[in-house]
Amino acid sequence: MEFQHALTFFEPRLTGQTAPLAKGYDAICAFVSDRLDEKTLAVLKAQGTKLIALRSAGYNHVDLEACARFNLPVVRVPEYSPYAVAEHAVCLILGLNRKIHRAFNRVREFNFSLDGLVGFDLHGKTVGVIGTGKIGAVFARIMRGFGCRVLAYDPKQNTVLQRTYGIEYVDLDTLYRQSDVISLHAPLSPATHHLINDSALSRLKRGSMLINTSRGALIDANALISALKNGSLGSAGLDVYEEEEGIFFENLSDQVMQDDTLARLLTFPNVLVTSHQAFLTVEALANIAHTTLKNISDFELGLPLQNQVGNPIS
Ligand code: NAI
Repeated sequence: MEFQHALTFFEPRLTGQTAPLAKGYDAICAFVSDRLDEKTLAVLKAQGTKLIALRSAGYNHVDLEACARFNLPVVRVPEYSPYAVAEHAVCLILGLNRKIHRAFNRVREFNFSLDGLVGFDLHGKTVGVIGTGKIGAVFARIMRGFGCRVLAYDPKQNTVLQRTYGIEYVDLDTLYRQSDVISLHAPLSPATHHLINDSALSRLKRGSMLINTSRGALIDANALISALKNGSLGSAGLDVYEEEEGIFFENLSDQVMQDDTLARLLTFPNVLVTSHQAFLTVEALANIAHTTLKNISDFELGLPLQNQVGNPIS
């Protein structure tokens, strides 16, 4: 075996309340549903935790300022499979467009009617990509393969995408106004929080499709509901939701849904929600495990932490 670490798996999510379970462990390994706020970090630090090893690329759920104060390094998996997430975004587009979720339910009841199942050719449509990093770049290339015109917005432009794949960088307003489908691949930050709000939604092409596989808080969910209700937005595919913590990844099928916004979103026939599963492929899981164990080994051996959050080479 390449790595020799003793691993213990705990069922509960990591929070300030469950952090005492980590007593006696040198490193804690967390995912996106865990809450690494100041309270949790203070408990971990007091118990002797030395390393926070994230199994995710995103780290917006970690209070980095508190980590710095507690001298707790944070490592992550910056790339495990951009294909997994980009392909899931495409899956949401195709499923929504051709109404596969409705067709699936319908034929199981021997209803073979085609009423309401009309989609559109993706070929020749304009697709807007917000964030052309690792995932957005793969997504943009796939959409070019469908014969789409691809518009992109990113403060850092990717010249290979431009020159080799004919992706056109435009300002956000142009992207909003011209795209038939918009897919979000920018990280969550103060600059992108509720990027898709009433103002952005009012500028979209009527009937367009919005896809979010990045982070829920990129979209103001109440503004999204208004746009879906008045028909200005044609459909939405969401793998992430701002208030997903404590809901996504859990089986709540025997409980009353307490989140009215999510409950409302789930009533729309033109909304497809998946439970933060875009990363979930065998290749991505293997890469996540390997990089996480290597991050922990590097720390143990005193090697430079290539994947440390805040490290310019990560
Ligand atoms: P990346 O860091 O390679 O790319 C992010 C891109 O967004 C960069 O090119 C950056 O310049 C750009 N960006 C930053 N601020 C922006 C802004 N205001 N407007 C437009 N673009 C902006 O990240 P990667 O690997 O492509 O991941 C993107 C996001 O996907 C992650 O931040 C994460 O939140 C999400 N993700 C979701 C997963 C899922 O299972 N649903 C799994 C993995 C990542």
